[in-house]
Amino acid sequence: MRIAVVGGGPGGLYFSILMRKIRPDCEITVYERRKPTDAFGFGVVFSDETLTVFEHADPETYSQIAERFTRWTDIDIHHRGFMTKSGGHGFSALGRRELLRILQERALGLGAEVRFGCEAPPLAELGWADLVVGADGASSAVRTALSRDFVPSLDRRQCRYMWLGTDLVFDAFKFFIAETEHGVVQAHAYPYDEAMSTFIVEMHERTWKRLGLGEQSVSESVAWCSRLFADALEGHRLLANKSRWINFVTVRNRRWCTDNVVLLGDAAHTAHFSIGSGTKLAMEDAVSLAWAFRSFGDDAVSAMAAYEAERRPIVESTQRAAQASLEWFEGIGRYVDQERFQFAFNLLTRSRRVTYENLQLRDPGFVSAVHPDPRPPMFTPLRLRGLELRNRVVVSPMDMYSAVDGLPGDFHLVHLGARALGGAGLVMTEMICVSDVGRITPGCAGMYRPSHVDAWRRIVSFAHQHGGCAIGAQIGHSGRKGSTRLMWEGMDEPLPDGQNWSLLAPSALAYSPRNQVPRAMTRADMDVVCGQFVSAASGALEAGFDLLEIHMAHGYLLSSFLSPVSNLRDDEYGGSLAGRARFPLEVLDACRAVWPSDRPLSVRISATDWIPGGFGVDDAVALARMLSAHGCDIVDVSSGQVSPLERPAFGRSYQTPFADRIRSEAGIPTIAVGAISSYDDVNTIICAGRADLCALARPHLYDPAWTLHAAAEQEFDIDAWVRQYEAGSRKPPAGRDRVRAELERTFDQVALISSSQLPG
Ligand SMILES: Cc1cc2nc3c(=O)[nH]c(=O)nc-3n(C[C@H](O)[C@H](O)[C@H](O)COP(=O)(O)OP(=O)(O)OC[C@H]3O[C@@H](n4cnc5c(N)ncnc54)[C@H](O)[C@@H]3O)c2cc1C
Ligand SMILES: Cc1cc2nc3c(=O)[nH]c(=O)nc-3n(C[C@H](O)[C@H](O)[C@H](O)COP(=O)(O)O)c2cc1C
Repeated sequence: MRIAVVGGGPGGLYFSILMRKIRPDCEITVYERRKPTDAFGFGVVFSDETLTVFEHADPETYSQIAERFTRWTDIDIHHRGFMTKSGGHGFSALGRRELLRILQERALGLGAEVRFGCEAPPLAELGWADLVVGADGASSAVRTALSRDFVPSLDRRQCRYMWLGTDLVFDAFKFFIAETEHGVVQAHAYPYDEAMSTFIVEMHERTWKRLGLGEQSVSESVAWCSRLFADALEGHRLLANKSRWINFVTVRNRRWCTDNVVLLGDAAHTAHFSIGSGTKLAMEDAVSLAWAFRSFGDDAVSAMAAYEAERRPIVESTQRAAQASLEWFEGIGRYVDQERFQFAFNLLTRSRRVTYENLQLRDPGFVSAVHPDPRPPMFTPLRLRGLELRNRVVVSPMDMYSAVDGLPGDFHLVHLGARALGGAGLVMTEMICVSDVGRITPGCAGMYRPSHVDAWRRIVSFAHQHGGCAIGAQIGHSGRKGSTRLMWEGMDEPLPDGQNWSLLAPSALAYSPRNQVPRAMTRADMDVVCGQFVSAASGALEAGFDLLEIHMAHGYLLSSFLSPVSNLRDDEYGGSLAGRARFPLEVLDACRAVWPSDRPLSVRISATDWIPGGFGVDDAVALARMLSAHGCDIVDVSSGQVSPLERPAFGRSYQTPFADRIRSEAGIPTIAVGAISSYDDVNTIICAGRADLCALARPHLYDPAWTLHAAAEQEFDIDAWVRQYEAGSRKPPAGRDRVRAELERTFDQVALISSSQLPG
């Protein structure tokens, strides 16, 4: 087998080493445009799990690498004159040049031909090779030449950064947070040998421009960084090595292989340096690809497919964590005012991979400094106006499609009753429709007849009397998404002919080609609908609900006013955000007027439509400010379901960053929701100050007593078990850890969550 490897970076070299070991008969030619001693960059960080992989893959390189490792366990966060230390992490690093030297020598020793200082020939001239490996880095020419097959996407991010080094040897991974008159500048620093540390300086592009760093030479910039971080550097020098200000580019490719060409390392994918090193990912790719050839022999097509199938989910999960991390640093200005321990906790948990629970294992002292309360964060109460919630868990609204002519029945009593006994602080009803034509399906519950008020009162009384929890009513109108089938008969599918009712919306635009075209609402229609909201709010009050939520999310009537995708009006109820928000705010004002001043009111919004040109997170922050000014106490931050063309980026806690941003920028409490699966996630979100409450929907279908069980697993005495169940209150059911791990894994996998499975 003849193999051409384009690029002699860590990925290309390590692959060559492993292939020569597995298949000593294969011929390998590596093209590397740089000279062997020409490496750029400073240190490379590895985690413990990665090292095990490398130890097994090639013990010879591993032992040389491990010999040169600098190891440390602490992360220090320097912020506003304080140093906050968190221990127990475990890192290893070495110099990038040293790593490349080890890999180069080993590859040559095993008989790979490495052509240094040699530009790779174009692909057309590599026809002799049975396999071409594109290991040519983030700007890969191999990828560009075959971009029709690989379908790359290059996402240029908002920060500028520069790789630098210093001859000060740090004893920990260090974050230095400097505040300038033009914004925050942060340094990520770690030791990598007995003489040097990496020192990456990063800031938002906006800050970089205002500071005029773009107009300075590299040496002037380095001098500026040395002055800014003078205290951190303790008189030592900052050093450049082919350094320049760059924007991180997240590279993704729809495919990593085509014919006999395969991408590996940075050419296939990049992950922001703040969660570890691209070097580690590239070398793990190399192991996977080489191992695939060990299994499939000369069948390159199967080997490449197996490599991609194995690596893609791992890489995508890493890229999701990296995305959360890089976005955190892009928005760091929002967090610098946090109290020092909360800021440090927030920073450490930014990628969602480090959590409250694992920090507690790594460094319990740090966690008790962050959260001195003996109760886990999720079990601290929250006051909203006159209502005190006993904990931070909310049973998220879930339509049961089981009402008859809007009337909630025994199913609702048992369903909501079971969840009211389950320990959550707040149980929300499904969307209660404000009129019969405001229902989504014929099975949706309502509050538009006196009998509805009585039926809801029965449920509320049960929740209060037996559950001891608060219960909230979510009221809404389906708008252009109405007159559809029950969830299990086809979500968003119109009813059979003859059973449909006519729809109302801001504009005469159907939700999808198969849905009915609604009628654009007149002012008179708005008066009628607003009156129906008020009447439903009054009904909720009569029924005894503790909290009222107005549904302005998921493409239903009020949401469709807010989104420019569904609101094309040219009167004062369309156009700018202020115009599009006018009717929803009128409804909010009217409901607030009848809803008592000592009871809280929340609004659920879709923080983004997930489509270009749609409602976006900036709009959501602006809207949240308006909602707050109109008497909303807490924003329940969901997303999407406004257009079937949406492309959401699903993943674990994927909507929480929106709740976080709204909370910190609009200064209003928020509810985070969406793929929050574990109590650890809830504790982390609350403790980091990303949201005030966490709503969980599907986990409560799986386990009505989710909160009681979370308390038992944390050995917290929750005081919410009803007397009747006390005998079973102490012991977590067997196998719960496994089930929890399964749920977490499920929520971590993009493909398993699709908005079509999320009604309401
Ligand atoms: C400026 C900069 C500094 C960095 N510093 C560090 C650091 O200190 N620590 C760290 O962990 N990571 C660092 N990184 C990230 C790191 O380089 C990558 O994530 C990692 O090396 C990926 O390995 P790779 O083998 O996929 O690609 P690369 O390391 O990028 O290797 C690709 C190789 O291909 C060669 N090449 C490209 N095109 C051709 C061609 N047409 N012909 C011949 N040769 C070609 C390049 O010269 C390069 O050596 C840095 C990245 C940049 C951009
Ligand atoms: C069966 C079901 C019904 C739903 N009905 C509603 C609803 O009536 N109102 C609403 O705002 N959201 C509704 N949703 C969305 C959930 O409240 C929640 O936002 C979503 O499921 C994401 O949370 P999860 O990942 O914890 O399930 C529903 C979700 C499910 C699974």
